[in-house]
Amino acid sequence: MSRVPIFGLLLVTCSIAFASDPSPLQDFCVADPNSPVFVNGVVCKDAKQVQADDFLFRGLHQMGNTSNDVGSNVTAVTVVELPGLNTLGISMARIDFAPMGINPPHTHPRATEILTVIEGSILVGFVTSNPENRLITKVLEKGDVFVFPQGLIHFQKNIGHGYAIAIAGLSSQNPGVITIANAVFGSNPDITGDILAKAFQVDINVVYQIQSKF
Ligand SMILES: *[C@@H]1O[C@H](CO)[C@@H](O)[C@H](O)[C@H]1NC(C)=O
Ligand SMILES: *[C@@H]1O[C@H](CO)[C@@H](O)[C@H](O)[C@H]1NC(C)=O
Repeated sequence: MSRVPIFGLLLVTCSIAFASDPSPLQDFCVADPNSPVFVNGVVCKDAKQVQADDFLFRGLHQMGNTSNDVGSNVTAVTVVELPGLNTLGISMARIDFAPMGINPPHTHPRATEILTVIEGSILVGFVTSNPENRLITKVLEKGDVFVFPQGLIHFQKNIGHGYAIAIAGLSSQNPGVITIANAVFGSNPDITGDILAKAFQVDINVVYQIQSKF
C-alpha cells in the first residue's frame, strides 16, 4: 500500500480539525487555572475532582454597565469565566446597549458569532475581506438571529429608543476580541504616526488627535 494517499488524507483531516478549536479527546477537560503548564488551551483538572459548578456560570440575567464612551457592555462567558468550556469550542456573551449605544467595529480572530436580539432594535453589519470590502448590514428586531463569519470585522448599534439586549454564541472557548480603533490607534507602544497617516491618507495631526483618545 502506498503511503501517499494516507498522508494526503491526514492533511485533509488536519485542515478540517484545525479550522476551529481542537476536538476534545475525552468527555470533558475542565480548565485548571492553577497549572503552570502552557498548552494550546488550558490543562485539564483531574476528572475525579470535577464538580457540577465547573460547568456552571451564573449572572447572565444581570445588565452590564453601559455608562462608557461607546454605550455598550459585553458580559463574556468564555473558558475564563466557565472552566468547563475548555476544549469544547464554544462560548457565549450578553451584550447590553444604552439608547444609541454601539458595540464598535471589532473581530474575533478565533470564532464565528451567532447573535439573537432579546430586547430592542439593533443595526448590525460586517465587512467582507479585500478587495471587495462589501458591507453586509441588517436591522434586527427581537427574536431575529444574525451570523458574523469568523474573523470578519463587525459591529452593532442600538437604534431603538430604550435599552437593547443581545445574546451571542461563539465557536471558540476563547474567541478573542480585536477592537479595531483600540488596536490601530491605541496600541502600546503606538504605531508611529507617519505609518497611520499614510495608511489612512490623513494629516499626521489627525492621527495624533485620534491616538490621544485611547
Ligand atoms: C461592564 O459592566 C460591568 C458590570 O456592571 C462593569 O463591571 C464593567 O466595568 C463594565 N465594562 C465597561 C467596559 O464599561
Ligand atoms: C456605571 O459606571 C459608571 C462609570 O464608571 C459609574 O459612575 C456608575 O456608578 C456605574 N453604575 C452602576 C450602577 O454601577
